[in-house]
Amino acid sequence: MPDIAFVKPALPRSGALVLPLPEAAEGAEPASTLRQALEEATGGALARALEAAAFKGRKGQSCTLWAPGAGLSKIVAIGLGKPDELTPEAAEAAGGAIAPMIAQEREAMVAAEGMAPELGAALALGLTLRGYRFDRYRTQEKEEDRPRLERVAIATADTAAAKAAWAPMRAVADGVALARDLVSEPPNVLGPEEMAERCRGLEKLGIEVEVLGPKEMKKLGFGALLGVAQGSAREPRLVVMQWLGASGGKGKRAGGAKPVAFIGKGVTFDTGGISIKPAQGMEEMKFDMAGAGAVIGLMAALAGRKARLDAVGVVGLVENMPSGTAQRPGDVVKTYSGQTVEVINTDAEGRLVLADALWYCQERFQPRFMVDLATLTGAIIISLGHEHAGLFSNDDELAQRIMAAGKAVSEPCWRMPMGEAYDKQLKSDIADMKNVGGRPGGSITAAHFIQRFVDTRRGHMPWAHLDIAGTAWASKDLPTVPKGATGFGVRLLDRLVAEHYEG
Ligand code: BES
Ligand code: MN
Ligand code: ZN
Repeated sequence: MPDIAFVKPALPRSGALVLPLPEAAEGAEPASTLRQALEEATGGALARALEAAAFKGRKGQSCTLWAPGAGLSKIVAIGLGKPDELTPEAAEAAGGAIAPMIAQEREAMVAAEGMAPELGAALALGLTLRGYRFDRYRTQEKEEDRPRLERVAIATADTAAAKAAWAPMRAVADGVALARDLVSEPPNVLGPEEMAERCRGLEKLGIEVEVLGPKEMKKLGFGALLGVAQGSAREPRLVVMQWLGASGGKGKRAGGAKPVAFIGKGVTFDTGGISIKPAQGMEEMKFDMAGAGAVIGLMAALAGRKARLDAVGVVGLVENMPSGTAQRPGDVVKTYSGQTVEVINTDAEGRLVLADALWYCQERFQPRFMVDLATLTGAIIISLGHEHAGLFSNDDELAQRIMAAGKAVSEPCWRMPMGEAYDKQLKSDIADMKNVGGRPGGSITAAHFIQRFVDTRRGHMPWAHLDIAGTAWASKDLPTVPKGATGFGVRLLDRLVAEHYEG
């Protein structure tokens, strides 16, 4: 990703120049001072080009002017829409739209001096997020096809204000990139152990990282998580990450303040186990650790921007494989909570992993609330497509806050119903519950399964579950997300925390 710098407006002598232009009222003077300077430098070529291209500054409109003189390689005008509709989200989207247009340049300047500095920073965020690329395994790419962008200067009237706004955004962008990297890694490279090692990498941000292996988990009684893991040659891991920011980053839990908690499903590859999945599309199941990836990215974001609260992240890392040691349909496992589960379908493994991770998180931290993220069900894709994550919660306030945060950062969620009738679908003839509730309402019964591991013995425990099976991977480019791993959840939960739980 390119370096972002905020600079005072001055015409660059090389590289690309990007002009974000609002939809101006007829006859209005252009607000950008750089644009005016440019018209003079190019003898009015820009105005003529925009005229000829019928560029009006409408949202999403763009116009490229090649080799316009003045040493520039090109000028890109990008429409911002009506000035009073220029929200941070719109600025972000404009930044996203710019990214592919300047990817082949080494340097670019964005003439954002007519925008509020915070909007300039939001534009930089969109540009950074959309400019993400996972290219570790491309060895033969032609030089001219590779993105070259090294540095983007954002021209702004108030560089100090823009930099201050950008600092936390940058930490969040780094967290998103980390989550995307993890999800993009192939499943041979990233197993549970390797993923736990990546978590250890967060120590340099001031996060405390503990890793539990099979011995410790066996001792604790994580029968559900271990049952999923037992078919794989790779050992499972449970990673606990703590960011203690309430004490001003001194690494102490402030007196009595409870942490907020995030729990992620980290199935590094989901074959389905003995209830094996069809071959077609099975490679997509490398993304089945995206919930854990989001939790890890979120922890990095919170620590990176020194969030003023205590937060814990717990991720259950396993590989779901068929083998002679794999668990069978019909097996009964005992979860860490003491409840027993009849495993009807070994492909409903995520909920088994979450069951133990969730219970452990509560036993140990008694958090203020818990949010879990999981690529849990194909059924949520049938319900909501790829446009919304499924949101399930036992707490209206928490659910409302998550919905609002998701909307603000373009990671929308849709609340799904819950109720006793669904819960009854989990009744087992020989154990406390089955791990599947049948096809009807498959995402809802999955949520109910998880809810059975929300401990209410000490009173109400606010909990929300995000089924991100439809939103963790993009099959086409989106405004601020290139095709591939989205990092869904990092920005959403960072926003939730920033809005309601800090200070
Ligand atoms: N990881 C899958 C969910 C999934 C499926 C995500 C397809 C994206 C696309 C999960 O572990 C799973 O296999 N769920 C089953 C549950 C069923 C056996 C009750 C499913 O959705 O088919
Ligand atoms: Mn599965
Ligand atoms: Zn799965």
